[in-house]
Amino acid sequence: MNTDKLICPSVLSADFSRLAEEIRVVEAAGSKILHLDVMDGHFVPNLTFGPIMVQAIRKLTNQTLEAHLMMTNPGDFLRQFREAGADTILIHTETCPHIHRELTEIRDLGAKAGVVLNPGTPADILKTLLPHIDQVLFMSVNPGFGGQALIPEVLEKIRTWAPTLHDHDIIIEIDGGVNLNTIDQIRGTGVDYYVAGSAIFGKDDAAEAFRTLQSQLS
Ligand code: DX5
Ligand code: ZN
Repeated sequence: MNTDKLICPSVLSADFSRLAEEIRVVEAAGSKILHLDVMDGHFVPNLTFGPIMVQAIRKLTNQTLEAHLMMTNPGDFLRQFREAGADTILIHTETCPHIHRELTEIRDLGAKAGVVLNPGTPADILKTLLPHIDQVLFMSVNPGFGGQALIPEVLEKIRTWAPTLHDHDIIIEIDGGVNLNTIDQIRGTGVDYYVAGSAIFGKDDAAEAFRTLQSQLS
């Protein structure tokens, strides 16, 4: 598989009072995938937004929307997120004791199915999921907040799993602490999609920040 290496802006660090403009700016700069962080205040110690916001964002952009569901009961909301316009739905293995059910439902709804592993979660579970997933998101911070430092041990986990995942046409994504100081370490591990929040929307010029990060991948 030869997947384009892409920077995926996370709106978590955007200025929500100017969200439409922020989203248009990164799209005009070339962003193809927008990362939407859904947090429930239970699985992670922070709250963000739900399907209503995804629906609003859907109207603003042609970018692929990926919903990263940091919630204890993602299975109860898959249809809502899909109907709101999510193209890819990413669920945490830590919150899904019957994960084949959720993964099957996501695909049945017509979305791409992805699993997310926290930094401390062993990746062995992936063996049983390979035929059921389109994407794996490796968290490189403990989820909940933007602007945290990348946990470098995760890079070894990615490096170990990249050949198997790519053999199965599964996209590899990393989320947390991606910026100009860390992108060199990440490149070469096999990551296809790089989520970046504060390194884009935390900067004065989000378009320039996006383009500079993306240029590091070609
Ligand atoms: C963290 C979120 C990330 C967050 C990354 O819980 O899942 O998507 O936006 O933020 P940065 O890029 O600032 O580490
Ligand atoms: Zn995320």
